[in-house]
Amino acid sequence: MLKIINLSKTYQTKAEKKGLFRQTLVLDQISLQVKEGEFVSIVGPSGCGKSTLFNLISGLEKPEQGQILLKGREITGEKGHVSYMLQKDLLLPWRTVLDNCILGMELQGHSRKECRQKAQALLDEFALSAYSRSYPQALSGGMRQRVAFLRTMLANKELLLLDEPFGSLDAYTKSEMHEWLMSVWSKYRATILFITHDIEEALFLSDRIYVLSAQPAQVKISLEVNLPRPRSRKMLVREEFNELKKQLLQALFE
Ligand SMILES: Nc1ncnc2c1ncn2[C@@H]1O[C@H](COP(=O)(O)OP(=O)(O)OP(=O)(O)O)[C@@H](O)[C@H]1O
Ligand SMILES: [Mg+2]
Repeated sequence: MLKIINLSKTYQTKAEKKGLFRQTLVLDQISLQVKEGEFVSIVGPSGCGKSTLFNLISGLEKPEQGQILLKGREITGEKGHVSYMLQKDLLLPWRTVLDNCILGMELQGHSRKECRQKAQALLDEFALSAYSRSYPQALSGGMRQRVAFLRTMLANKELLLLDEPFGSLDAYTKSEMHEWLMSVWSKYRATILFITHDIEEALFLSDRIYVLSAQPAQVKISLEVNLPRPRSRKMLVREEFNELKKQLLQALFE
């Protein structure tokens, strides 16, 4: 589905002295792959370039070097091919839940009526219909994330990029969201690329995990997670789980 080959990105940042610029290499020859229907996570230290990688895949920014292929076709620097849920939920406080959901579709030029119909159907399914006329401030953190996710789904692309969608949630809500995400993922047979800081979360959800190094980010390892599905919380105390966790921690901190 997605193939990234030797992707590099440099940012120009202002140096201390006026008028001088410094080049900072953020991504250094990143290569990775996501197969159709796979759930792949990316973990790495804060500031290493994970969100930058998503900005490149979505076409918001352009790399200096490397290629991004989607289903065999080069899309490097092009927008409009993937659904992208940004690191912050970015719900607009002056729009209702329903109208927040349709924001992306509406910007693509679809009529409000059509957008609202589609969004309402998904809201029903995601048990959010009681809130469709509420404003975001009336929602809990988990609900806000579900609304932001629903908006991402409505963009209706085959590849979903999710940047730390549950980063700000408490442990209990987070684990509820995991169950929920797994059910949505298997129902819609989505292909997901997922950024997280949480190693247990990555192991619980993923088929495969890429560990990135500190900046400039390089791929340290790609780890297969061969744990059976459907997965439950009980898995977290199993031997195989801890073995994988050890490998991940070693790769992250070595
Ligand atoms: N538009 C930009 N201009 C200049 N530097 C940038 C820009 N965007 C990001 N950076 C820098 O690139 C580096 C990587 O940022 P990025 O947001 O990709 O990190 P991250 O891995 O997502 O971090 P976190 O885990 O904290 O979200 C940081 O040092 C950041 O300051
Ligand atoms: Mg980030």
